[in-house]
Amino acid sequence: MAITNQLMTMLMSLIFLLRIASFASSLNLQTGFYSNSCPNAESIVRYVMKKALIREPRSLASVMRFQFHDCLVNGCDASMLLDDTPTMLGEKLALSNINSLRSFEVIDEVKEALENACPGIVSCADIIIMASRDAVALTGGPFWEVRLGRLDSLIANQEDSNNIMPSPRTNASALINLFEKYDLSVKDLVALSGSHSIGKARCFSIMFRLYNQSGTGKPDPAIDPDYRKELNKLCPLDVDQNVTGNLDATPVVFDNQYFKDMVGGRGFLNSDQTLFTFPETREFVKLYSKNQSEFFKAFVEGMLKMGDLQSGKPGEVRKNCRVVNARHSHLLLEKEHM
Ligand code: HEM
Ligand SMILES: *[C@@H]1O[C@H](CO)[C@@H](O)[C@H](O)[C@H]1NC(C)=O
Ligand SMILES: *[C@@H]1O[C@H](CO)[C@@H](O)[C@H](O)[C@H]1NC(C)=O
Ligand SMILES: *[C@@H]1O[C@H](CO)[C@@H](O)[C@H](O)[C@H]1NC(C)=O
Ligand SMILES: *[C@@H]1O[C@H](CO)[C@@H](O)[C@H](O)[C@H]1NC(C)=O
Repeated sequence: MAITNQLMTMLMSLIFLLRIASFASSLNLQTGFYSNSCPNAESIVRYVMKKALIREPRSLASVMRFQFHDCLVNGCDASMLLDDTPTMLGEKLALSNINSLRSFEVIDEVKEALENACPGIVSCADIIIMASRDAVALTGGPFWEVRLGRLDSLIANQEDSNNIMPSPRTNASALINLFEKYDLSVKDLVALSGSHSIGKARCFSIMFRLYNQSGTGKPDPAIDPDYRKELNKLCPLDVDQNVTGNLDATPVVFDNQYFKDMVGGRGFLNSDQTLFTFPETREFVKLYSKNQSEFFKAFVEGMLKMGDLQSGKPGEVRKNCRVVNARHSHLLLEKEHM
């Protein structure tokens, strides 16, 4: 009898916990979400991002990329930050992420600072959103108010990441189809691709277009000849494919140079260059190459839309962004309160 009661209590508290969590994860996100519970949250994130910028400028680009790789795979829930466990393959080793996503330590540093200021309050999913915004603003891009109140996932899904995240070979029409599934428009696609205004990519991501585009045995004809010479020098056939090159001509400044480069046939990735070669996306590339404020405005809209993607699944506020909280201790705690 006693055991049954105990079991019932545990079951009830479990249901209770999951219900709160799943309810919260479908709540509307809002600006100023932490203004009472952790008033300095946004300035703490900003402070750590500033330190990261001084230490290694590229790390801001690397962190900004997290928003894309997190939000497309089951919503913005920090699933991407979970390390592998004996029973769960994380997303860090998924096809598009392995040997590529980096600067996880910057998020750890933000989390540690936030846990010191307000333990258990600010989710890792919200940290990604704030840090991405700050990465853009600190490198010369626009600033915008972010909507907050996300929860962190209880699981990661490597297979979903493998199936969803686009490869650098992808062309503009395939990217349009992918983004459409998330209610992201052609305009959103082109503007968000402008994130490649900062950061670097590996030779690994462009070898095929330098030496064997679409199995032709020839380079991609869309590459400007002088730029191709530069790329061939950076990435000869026998190169260590982890060597990196700049995604645009001004890789530590968030500006519209990326779009000028596309117009000039100087796009690093095939996926980027096809935004200019395909008629569906070309006009946006031209517009943003000429008018940086148009780009900034569309980029902010795109980041807000992408940041609103949610899984609707139960969540929590993780203590450590790399691991889910111990469920067991939660249940015990819940019981003590009853
Ligand atoms: C539209 C489809 C996209 C494709 C196909 C794509 C693909 C890639 C690839 C292949 C790399 C280099 C990976 C490597 O060689 O290691 C990269 C880097 C990057 N991506 Fe994207 N990406 C896309 C959209 C986005 C979006 C929407 C964002 C952010 C909003 C983003 C942010 C970045 C950043 C900042 C980097 C540089 C990271 C660093 O320097 O560490 N990308 N992307
Ligand atoms: C774009 O990519 C898709 C998917 O790989 C392919 O089916 C299509 O033929 C490509 N479109 C063009 C015009 O190359
Ligand atoms: C180019 O790609 C095609 C198709 O993937 C392949 O059959 C061919 O061997 C490749 N050529 C070279 C030189 O790698
Ligand atoms: C890049 O480096 C990693 C680890 O340092 C290694 O495992 C991987 O094989 C390298 N990738 C390429 C394409 O050379
Ligand atoms: C650029 O776009 C902004 C609106 O985003 C507009 O006010 C401005 O006039 C445009 N500039 C040019 C040179 O067309």
